[in-house]
Amino acid sequence: MNRRLHGSRLAGSTARAEGLARLDRVTNSTRNDSRRHTAVVGLQWGDEGKGKVVDLLTAQHDVIVRYNGGANAGHTVVVEGERYALHLIPSGILNPKKRNIIGNGVVVDPEKLLEEIDKLRARGVHVETNLQVSDRAHVVMPYHKEQDAALEEFLLGVASNERGSFAIGTTRRGIGPAYADKVNRSTAIRMGDLLDHDYLRDRLRVICRLRSAELKALGVAAPPLDPDALAARFFELGQTLRPHITDTVYALHDAIKADQSILFEGANACLLDIDHGTYPYVTSSNCSTLGIPSGTGVPGHHLGRILGIMKAYSSRVGAGPFPTEQLNETGNLIRERGREYGTTTGRPRRTGWLDLVAVKYSVMVCGATGIACTLFDVLAGFEELKICTAYRLADGSVVDRFFPDARLLAQATPVYKTFRGWTEELREVTDRKSLPINAETYLAFIEEHLGIPIEMVGVGPDRNQTLVNA
Ligand code: IMP
Repeated sequence: MNRRLHGSRLAGSTARAEGLARLDRVTNSTRNDSRRHTAVVGLQWGDEGKGKVVDLLTAQHDVIVRYNGGANAGHTVVVEGERYALHLIPSGILNPKKRNIIGNGVVVDPEKLLEEIDKLRARGVHVETNLQVSDRAHVVMPYHKEQDAALEEFLLGVASNERGSFAIGTTRRGIGPAYADKVNRSTAIRMGDLLDHDYLRDRLRVICRLRSAELKALGVAAPPLDPDALAARFFELGQTLRPHITDTVYALHDAIKADQSILFEGANACLLDIDHGTYPYVTSSNCSTLGIPSGTGVPGHHLGRILGIMKAYSSRVGAGPFPTEQLNETGNLIRERGREYGTTTGRPRRTGWLDLVAVKYSVMVCGATGIACTLFDVLAGFEELKICTAYRLADGSVVDRFFPDARLLAQATPVYKTFRGWTEELREVTDRKSLPINAETYLAFIEEHLGIPIEMVGVGPDRNQTLVNA
């Protein structure tokens, strides 16, 4: 064999071996890295009790980041008997050692954010540079809230065909109009824009002309918007929030490089996802885990563990199909026992049996690797319990697929499996083995049906009323 050729072959194979070793190191570091990062996401229509789970997981992570939604979300966290209602700020704020990030995918109402910061500080919670807000997060302006309410009122006013109105039953927090402006681009304001007075004023002069005309057309009898006053007010808010506003994409990637672990906190829930939820009765962001890459700038392969939060039953606020809804005593009992009234709006929530067709769909879309079953204590005292495992359609066929489209889902009637209930209250239970046998049977069926483990079971509102590693 030609020596030169042989030599170059040897050199080639050494280089290849080195290359492979390098690739292996990189792959391993990615693998190891991904195991450290967790996502928490609601698998139903919201209010699954994510706050408490996030709060529990906070201990195992360094950075907690919100990637979607805005002040439409509401988390109640109970720590040592104290109740904290959080809307925009990640629940990790209650742990002074953690960094909390509001990612670029969130829409931020700066007045609400400051109100939340002030309330937390007044109760002795540390809120300084441990809270960072993306300079690219879009701002919810006062006219967005007016637009949201005006559109809902308009739709309620022109109701009426057999379907009722086309109103969504929004939280009226300006979420939809703020995201619409993000997509419009020319009428959007981002958090970073609040730091430049003249730019903000110039943009608002144009936006306000347009908005005043639109609001008038929707029948809002308010005086025209004053752009200069609005610019002064929001510049001032920007100045107060300046220490928190930063490029959170680099902040997150710096944290990853520094070996820190990240907890991604979803707001709202998978079935309210703008693309994958029960459209059009959804919110305006990607609330499933699919919103994490775009809403934070962190690619999906960094995610190792995806914990889906599921109530032991179902609830929904606002309009839209809800196959297992119980408009009867059962529904009332669940509402009262589960204190099913909105954290954000105070509205009574619609309640019903657990729908595993819906949850299984969300597990699939979100890539959930485990379940946290919350509010399990609420189910004590029912003689029997039902779980929906399939839908019957108008033509009599039975399917186990979900319909992420309101019109199709409205035609589905649930097929139930019935379980025997239990009378024992669960709040004092400290491990899953001590649950009443009928309660354990209920959980075991869910695990079997979804094909992933239930990692946590909530048996009361307090942080320590959670059966972990169950
Ligand atoms: P929006 O997000 O205010 O536009 O409301 C759109 C729909 O999503 C309405 O039906 C709301 O009730 C619902 N929604 C939004 N956020 C939440 C949440 O955090 N929990 C429950 N429902 C929500």
